[in-house]
Amino acid sequence: MAVFDAEWQRTRPCGMFREEQAGTSVRVNGWVRRRRDLGGIIFIEVWDYTGPVQVVFDPERCDPSVHERAGALRSEFCVAVKGRLAKRPDGTQNDALATGAVEVMAEDMLILSPSAPLPFEVGDATDKVDENLRLTHRYLDLRREKMQHNLRTRSRFYSFTRNFLADRGFVEVETPMLTKATPEGARDYLVPSRVNPGSFYALPQSPQLFKQILMVSGVDRYFQIAKCFRDEDLRADRQPEFTQVDVEMSYAVEDDVMSLIEEYMKGLFAALKGVEVKTPFRRLEYWDAIDLYGSDKPDLRIPMTLVDLAPVFDKGNSPFEKILADGGVVRGLPLPGGASMSRKELAEVEERAKALGASGLGVFQVKGGELKGPLVKFIDEAKIPRLREIAGIGDGDALFVVADASRLKACSILGTLRLELCKGSPALFDSDAWEFLWVTRFPMFEWSPEDKRWTAMHHPFTSPVLEQVAEMEKNPGGILARAYDVVLNGSEVGGGSIRIHDPSVQSRVFSCLGITPEEARERFGFFLDALSYGTPPHGGIALGVDRLVMMLCGAQSIREVMAFPKTQRAQCLLSGAPDEVERSRLDELKIRVVP
Ligand code: AMO
Repeated sequence: MAVFDAEWQRTRPCGMFREEQAGTSVRVNGWVRRRRDLGGIIFIEVWDYTGPVQVVFDPERCDPSVHERAGALRSEFCVAVKGRLAKRPDGTQNDALATGAVEVMAEDMLILSPSAPLPFEVGDATDKVDENLRLTHRYLDLRREKMQHNLRTRSRFYSFTRNFLADRGFVEVETPMLTKATPEGARDYLVPSRVNPGSFYALPQSPQLFKQILMVSGVDRYFQIAKCFRDEDLRADRQPEFTQVDVEMSYAVEDDVMSLIEEYMKGLFAALKGVEVKTPFRRLEYWDAIDLYGSDKPDLRIPMTLVDLAPVFDKGNSPFEKILADGGVVRGLPLPGGASMSRKELAEVEERAKALGASGLGVFQVKGGELKGPLVKFIDEAKIPRLREIAGIGDGDALFVVADASRLKACSILGTLRLELCKGSPALFDSDAWEFLWVTRFPMFEWSPEDKRWTAMHHPFTSPVLEQVAEMEKNPGGILARAYDVVLNGSEVGGGSIRIHDPSVQSRVFSCLGITPEEARERFGFFLDALSYGTPPHGGIALGVDRLVMMLCGAQSIREVMAFPKTQRAQCLLSGAPDEVERSRLDELKIRVVP
């Protein structure tokens, strides 16, 4: 019985055989896919990460026992083949394959490992298989060309990142996984400590506090490809366990971090995608982004912006006069071509707006040069040209209107409609574009109606803008932060800030967040202490690796670019985690599970 030894090792990966090598002896190692029997001649494709090569078992050319074994091959058997590389006969070449001009005329074959019957066919069609089945047998799913491409793109992403940052003097430092809670807005994953019964580690939501402490420690420029853990509601672009490119710089101001990341993105997209990214990126302050796009992560592939209709609706017999007088807003979304929408389509948009929280949706359409719609009778004749001018609408267009006491709410509703109405239309959405943007000056604090207190919009270590520090306690809602998010095509791919380096300002921020001095000491005492030993001013950012790689791969979900992702219920279907544990292990940890 033959064994796998150097005699059987591949001469090159499957997808690398070319016409120039025709006539030479070759060996192939890989998985069997697609077997065809044509009049006694057996054709198989043998695959690996480089693609397929065709192998031919011709009974006239190989030993009958070899031919017989080839007949027993099934999909995903792992094999080694010895043979001679030949040019394919004229008319049988396959231009779609890199190896399409050649085939291996088999002389001997070894089954290295048979495969159990498959839960699904491994190939392009696997995309249509139920995702849970794919995740349960992830090893088969990952054998596919596309998933291999995704994994390899991710690996190139890491190499590029490490080289780029190391070349610029950044030092890679690992921070602990078993640590204390760092607030990033989600729940912590907790790990019980056996040697300290009743005490728990938290898995890091980010390395935020440690990277700041590394600035106190003189590292100066830090980076880490960091695993982060957040127990939060999952979506297509969120996982409980994800990866960041985490960066921190001493003596940095906003422009330093931003220009570093712009240069990084430019290099990254050129290297991995062959795309030229324009720098510097556009910058928008948070409230401008809300006013113009109804989102703090605007998708600039859609040119349409929201408009302020207060000047049209402030007086006269306007139904929105009171809302405006009380400090509310009337905002509009122009939709080119929207005049052709039917009554039914308009009603659907209104339903959607209501589902998003609007009390109603005003609609104008310009037909035959005339402004139409139920609201027309409430606008002074003289103001109609003004409305059309503000909204930039002409014949054939429509305008959707939302009035609300809350500026954020009115804009957000129209911002969602903007995405939903425009993404389907090639004229209003350039799907090939790569639109980067910085969103800056986020509010420092956000009011949480559930908790009835202010919460940090980014995290509590973000510096308020300096001119406002003095008035922080007086008007927390009006304080802006030295924070910035990097947005790509409507997705938040990174976020960071200039930090507080003064322990007294840090204490005041905690107090605005309703954290008492005792609680601050208990939770962050180690950090406040560190800040008190000559901390350099510093700032940084963290990029979402999974989201960036997803976009570089053109994937629809971050699960497609993670080797072993979790489901929406935070389960690993492959390994069966999370799982119950034996009673004895819980006893050891002094933990009791209450049913
Ligand atoms: P932030 O919380 O904004 O900042 O996270 C940075 C980036 O990480 C990505 N991200 C996620 N990706 C996948 N799944 C998740 N659950 C998830 N959550 C976040 C996003 C996001 O922009 N310590 C700060 C950074 C700093 O201030 O330097 C932080 O973690 O792309």
